[in-house]
Amino acid sequence: MFDLILRQANLPDGRKGQDIAILDGKIAEVAPTIAAVARDEIDATGRLVTPPFVDPHFHMDATLSLGLPRMNRSGTLLEGIALWGELRPTLTVDALVDRALRYCDLAVTQGLLAIRTHVDTSDPRLVTVEAMLEVKRRVAPYLDLQIVAFPQDGYYRAKDGVASLTRALDMGADIVGGIPHFERTMDEGRASVETLCRLAADRGLPVDMHCDESDDPLSRHVETLAAQTVRFGLQGRVTGSHLTSMHSMDSYYVSKLIPLMVEAQMNVIPNPLINIMLQGRHDTYPKRRGMTRVRELMAAGLNVSFGHDCVMDPWYAMGSGDMLEVGHMAIHVAQMGSLEEKSAIFQALTTNSARTMGLQGYGLAKGCNADLVVLQARDPAEALRLKAVKLAVIRRGRLIAHTPARVGELLIEGRAGRIDPSVGFAPDYE
Ligand code: FE2
Repeated sequence: MFDLILRQANLPDGRKGQDIAILDGKIAEVAPTIAAVARDEIDATGRLVTPPFVDPHFHMDATLSLGLPRMNRSGTLLEGIALWGELRPTLTVDALVDRALRYCDLAVTQGLLAIRTHVDTSDPRLVTVEAMLEVKRRVAPYLDLQIVAFPQDGYYRAKDGVASLTRALDMGADIVGGIPHFERTMDEGRASVETLCRLAADRGLPVDMHCDESDDPLSRHVETLAAQTVRFGLQGRVTGSHLTSMHSMDSYYVSKLIPLMVEAQMNVIPNPLINIMLQGRHDTYPKRRGMTRVRELMAAGLNVSFGHDCVMDPWYAMGSGDMLEVGHMAIHVAQMGSLEEKSAIFQALTTNSARTMGLQGYGLAKGCNADLVVLQARDPAEALRLKAVKLAVIRRGRLIAHTPARVGELLIEGRAGRIDPSVGFAPDYE
């Protein structure tokens, strides 16, 4: 007797009509027909069932603070940082925890069950870190939260930046962050990368830096990050977030850079919604897109995943916690619209980001954690196209959220009926 069986699901790898049996919080079997009974069943006929979405780059200390203390008038990254600097002294642990928990509630209904958040360590009070550690403890039964000690105002540039980041790690932050392009000089940026990689190596921690979030083609800290990764033996444990300057770099230089990143086994996290909103702001026309070279990085075999980065905060007034919205934007900005490319983008939102975060037991194979999402879509391409409804969200074999299917009632005479944007509407394609 199983705890739960999902019947006749489509899987992200293209298999159709699969039963998934769950026992004791784990996937016990995946097969075309499982002739057994379970305490509960979910009919997933024609629906895509996927492991949960994973957001490897977010700012949970800033989320849902839109309008506090005022709106970002220019819409730029730099005004966002200045605005966050105005808000920061007024932050309290209670308010931070409350906003973050509300975001996590939203995330769960969107099938988003693992998030890596950067947490600003610039204010020596470190209420941000205290609050996010509390949130991590409270959401642990249903959402994996990782905390990056992130020196938003610069590791060297901010007063007490060095000491505050170290204290954040002592308090329990999981990952060493950085922001080399925001240090005072290129030299200090380079030095910050070296020091932070050494710190990570000494403490046995991963690294995840905001790196070269700039349109400046000469912002090349990613090169240093790759070199220091190899120097300190951190291969596979280092992530370059944003890397937007790569968009503007000379292509000959990039042909040397990408192999260095491969040697470092660097994880790469573009943030399509934020990159397309914030980059290219100094351009008149033509305006650069500003997202890093996703297609080329994937082709080189690098592990590319995508982050949501912001939802309703000083940098971004949009966002809904839906990683399919992130992938939808990635498809457009990277111009990756073929079936294979959409499949690769879906994988970036799930298995690639799980790999970036080092999640254990993630996936659809027997023995993996029974963490699953049933989507109102037939396959990954349709899920991305429709930003599909997350019909059911399952954690360790237990249903923790569900949302009714989006079905329109058409009332036009002669055409009346129920319109499900997925099943029975779109043409079949293979
Ligand atoms: Fe970020």
